[in-house]
Amino acid sequence: MRQLKANVYAVGAIDWDRKLFDELIPLPDGTSYNAYLIKGSEKTALLDTVDPTKTNVLIDNLIKSGAAKIDYIISHHAEQDHAGMIPMIMELYPEAKVVCTPKCKEMLKDLLHLDESMIITVNDKETLSLGNRTFEFIYCPWVHWPETMVSYLREDKVLFSCDFFGSHLATSALYVEDECQVYESAKRYFGEIMMPFRTNIQKNLDKLMGYQIEVIAPSHGPLYNRPEFILEAYKSWVNDEPKNIVLLPYVSMHGSTKEMVDYLVGALIERGVGVKQFDLTVTEAGKLAIALVDAATLVLATPTVLSGAHPVAANAAFLANALRPNLKFATIIGSYLWASKAVEQITGMIPNLKVELLEPVYIKGLPKEEDLIALDKLANAIAQKHREHGFK
Ligand code: FEO
Repeated sequence: MRQLKANVYAVGAIDWDRKLFDELIPLPDGTSYNAYLIKGSEKTALLDTVDPTKTNVLIDNLIKSGAAKIDYIISHHAEQDHAGMIPMIMELYPEAKVVCTPKCKEMLKDLLHLDESMIITVNDKETLSLGNRTFEFIYCPWVHWPETMVSYLREDKVLFSCDFFGSHLATSALYVEDECQVYESAKRYFGEIMMPFRTNIQKNLDKLMGYQIEVIAPSHGPLYNRPEFILEAYKSWVNDEPKNIVLLPYVSMHGSTKEMVDYLVGALIERGVGVKQFDLTVTEAGKLAIALVDAATLVLATPTVLSGAHPVAANAAFLANALRPNLKFATIIGSYLWASKAVEQITGMIPNLKVELLEPVYIKGLPKEEDLIALDKLANAIAQKHREHGFK
């Protein structure tokens, strides 16, 4: 338990050891489930709970913070890492009411079997007084579920932002100490979770611009006592044009595709195009997600196996399609021997990407002179497209 301000406590849990979220997202630096207790002169509110695996930590912190009573459990978001302990908290504090959006209420009923009578719903911009402190609730749909809201504590100018602006980062520091480290974690988090909802996030950022914010207190990772750091980062991830970068994930079984990758990477660098190359057999999804935030072009390199794309390349295409990055161009390179449907398969897997498909270079066997010329042409086309669009 740590104190942010008088009668405002961080009562959540650090999860140093968690390695996977949603059984999907790698957590190389662990995570935290931040919850906050605010004692007003008349009422006390708990803001979110923690993942059920950290039950004891939250209860211990509530005891340490002297939470004799809880009047409101403000539930910003129904996902289990924040809402999962609400039923247990309701048992310990039976007088408490859950405060949430109407959409969140339905989700809490479905996910936790909460009874209607336990829940108070609030409208967008509605306020709730704790006596000497006032919350304003701000709907922020699709960061990253449709029911989400954030809370602004007016007197203290603290924005409790739930997943919005979060980072999967286990750290003993309450506030950001190393902005470079947090930038990478927050960008990874944005790429994995927020990027598919860029348009909604832009609207929600605009909505928050009217508030004087001194501290952003998210539900994952350290708090921001220099909010402009993360606000500016989000604005650039959401609004900026892609950069002069080719993302080149590849897999190669016997070296032909790798030879093409090496040649194309060299050709792109010679033409002033930045490249991020990843070996898909050892690259975790977060690395691809970070690179997808900025890249202008995706070149997926795959050999043919069992007459189609290599499954790890198909997995990367599926991921890129789901994350809906701001890519502008895409193509496929690789090698086959007698027949292949890899190009049709991969292009059929990326309907969400609003990209211009460039001419693939899909060749027979080890690359020959004419294949290298085709790769040079591809590098020329990419460099020219990037220049025409002014990508920097
Ligand atoms: Fe951290 Fe969407 O839950």
